[in-house]
Amino acid sequence: MPSTIGTPATVAELIKRADQVLRPSDSSRLDSELLLAHALGCDRLAVYRDGNCDVAPDQRLQFEGLVRARASGQPVAQLLGTAEFWSLSFHIDANVLIPRPETELLVATVLDRIPRSHPSMIADLGTGSGAIAVVIALERRNATIIASDLSTAALAVARRNCDIHCVTQVYLLRANWMDAFGEAKFDIIVSNPPYVCAGDPLLSSSAIRFEPSLALVGGDDGLDALRELVAQATVHLKPGGCLLVEHGYNQGAIVRRLFYKQGLQRVTTAPDLAGLERVTFGEMVRAAERFR
Ligand SMILES: C[S@@+](CC[C@H](N)C(=O)[O-])C[C@H]1O[C@@H](n2cnc3c(N)ncnc32)[C@H](O)[C@@H]1O
Repeated sequence: MPSTIGTPATVAELIKRADQVLRPSDSSRLDSELLLAHALGCDRLAVYRDGNCDVAPDQRLQFEGLVRARASGQPVAQLLGTAEFWSLSFHIDANVLIPRPETELLVATVLDRIPRSHPSMIADLGTGSGAIAVVIALERRNATIIASDLSTAALAVARRNCDIHCVTQVYLLRANWMDAFGEAKFDIIVSNPPYVCAGDPLLSSSAIRFEPSLALVGGDDGLDALRELVAQATVHLKPGGCLLVEHGYNQGAIVRRLFYKQGLQRVTTAPDLAGLERVTFGEMVRAAERFR
């Protein structure tokens, strides 16, 4: 965006110019408003209300930097440092995946299986920003959640989100999937693992190139993490316990096979709002069923 420094510019003028710079994007107007509100330290409503106010040079400089970064493809959520998930605001940075709307289906499917009335032990593997663990903790006060990640930087973000949402029953653990879980057994194990194929052109061409590859890439066929964590999780499920994973829209059949291969039963895949296979879950066989 050409610098406006040197000439006075109002809120409305700056938004108009940024909108033009970002125009190839469908959300250019919305992004411009959000970025200016961020630079001004106000909410989006104030940007509408104060359209005729002049913007101070230091705030314009900050805004112009944000617009340039957005024009280069950086996601708005990273520039704002926050993302919405489950109608809550989460702190995020470049070390974590920006929580996606699809993952709300995973959370809804998990919540259906956690009783409100009595305690349960939950593991959230690859917690990233902690979004899944925090929502479960807020929605099910009786649940204890161990949320793990390989990335120490991601765990720091998850810690901050637990503090922001005053959640005290989430325990953070650095682990390579479940290698640091000892003998622990869980009622529910949930994960949104990396499941993009290494060669997927999306990784270099779209906004996701700004997100950590550790959070995205699941090896050549996208299934490395799923294979590893499904195998490990079955060792840590209580009899009757449930494993739930998010996966790519075209990975449902192979993930169901992975579940069956590891001895899980009643394996089901739930579609997302677009009708695409997105979340697979299955149960660990109970002792009584094993000998039938
Ligand atoms: C797709 S992101 C999901 C983040 C978050 N749970 C969400 O749904 O928004 C996958 C997460 O798995 C973590 N991860 C990748 N490899 C891992 C491993 N071997 N062990 C544990 N976590 C891993 C990444 O650091 C990342 O935070």
